[in-house]
Amino acid sequence: MKQDMILILDLGSEENPRLAREIRDLGVYSEIYPHDISPEELKALPGVRGIILNGGPNCIVDGVEIDAGDHVYNGPVPVLLAGVKGKHPWPAEPEERKAALSRFVFDTCGAKANWNMENFIADQVELIRRQVGDKQVLLALSGGVDSSVVAALLIKAIGKQLTCVHVNHGLLRKGEPEQVVEVFGKQLDANLVYVDAADRFLDKLAGVADPEQKRKIIGAEFIRVFEEEARKLSGIQYLAQGTIYPDIIESGTKTVKAVKSHHNVGGLPEDLGFQLVEPLKMLFKDEVRACGVALGLPDEMVYRQPFPGPGLGVRCLGAITRDRLEALRESDAILREEFAKAGLAGKVWQYFTVVPDFKSVGVRDGARTFDWPVILRAVNTVDAMTATVEEVPWGILKGICDRVTREVAGVNRVLYDLTPKPVGTIEWE
Ligand code: XMP
Repeated sequence: MKQDMILILDLGSEENPRLAREIRDLGVYSEIYPHDISPEELKALPGVRGIILNGGPNCIVDGVEIDAGDHVYNGPVPVLLAGVKGKHPWPAEPEERKAALSRFVFDTCGAKANWNMENFIADQVELIRRQVGDKQVLLALSGGVDSSVVAALLIKAIGKQLTCVHVNHGLLRKGEPEQVVEVFGKQLDANLVYVDAADRFLDKLAGVADPEQKRKIIGAEFIRVFEEEARKLSGIQYLAQGTIYPDIIESGTKTVKAVKSHHNVGGLPEDLGFQLVEPLKMLFKDEVRACGVALGLPDEMVYRQPFPGPGLGVRCLGAITRDRLEALRESDAILREEFAKAGLAGKVWQYFTVVPDFKSVGVRDGARTFDWPVILRAVNTVDAMTATVEEVPWGILKGICDRVTREVAGVNRVLYDLTPKPVGTIEWE
């Protein structure tokens, strides 16, 4: 293995992710495991140079104070008991904290600052090969950042032993399915099964106006399509997933309760009978992007703005119709183009269009029109719990209005949504 690692064992601190980040910022790789890691699990971890038992307010679980096993204390590497009240609290001052950490990591443990993406990728390639052997792996490739980076990593590690299934549910943005086929099918020469299921999804959604019902239908249909494809393939033993560290944090640990349950792509059921391959599960989002860049994925894929699983389905308000979906896809593409041209694409967190299910009167070439409006939304946020509205310069808004009303069929009005979250949510449905 190319990288040294400092292991953090969770003794009830909510600060473990921050600590892992701080150690990685020193240039040393770090991973977090539950306090009750078994001797076998511990032995199997590569490159461990030291262990930090990081305690905190959640150290009492089911009425008992948790602790690590003797094998941790009596093992071959230095152990630091930190953070626990009265023992070795971390200094509050950032520079002192960094110095304390650095003394343990470098002086006590003798770790080398060799954490970088090239080494991470080299290690993961080896670990994936070790885990998978000569078996076959399946991946639901949505084209989102996480599944794309997993795909690229697995292609590097096991090539044609990976089969990617891309389900086009007809609710993707303009050019997205084509990009998946181009990048993974052609450039990276992956085994790619492309499923055009647009009609199937739209038929299922016909006449359904309730947002949660729409989400349920899209989620359930996704699983059905994916399972059908999985059944056609024989000899698959592993399922790869783009789980990343924030998903794991949100799902809760043994000492911290779940914020929300983790739904991977489309919420695949656990009873498919596969073992999981999750090579990104210890990475933070910016590290996942850096990994994607190092693997040679295009910037538009790696720096893609967040896009909801149900896709354009929750932006074509009410019961989805094909004409409004088309207007939505085209107006969204124009918005993205104009934001890119204006240098806003990398700056604004999320921006998209919405097409409501009512019409308004307009006039074009001297004749009355009765067409759909398009709503523009552009927001900034840190964690999507609250959001502020981007103050897009007037000239850019006017340019977008001009293009949308000229180029998108069935649209005669453009509006800008001024509502922060709260009171509005980011999406309209
Ligand atoms: P809201 O609308 O709740 O959105 O303010 C917060 C963030 O979550 C995204 N979002 C979703 N993502 N499935 C997803 O994968 C969904 O059903 C869904 N609904 C909202 C939204 O795009 C924003 O980034």
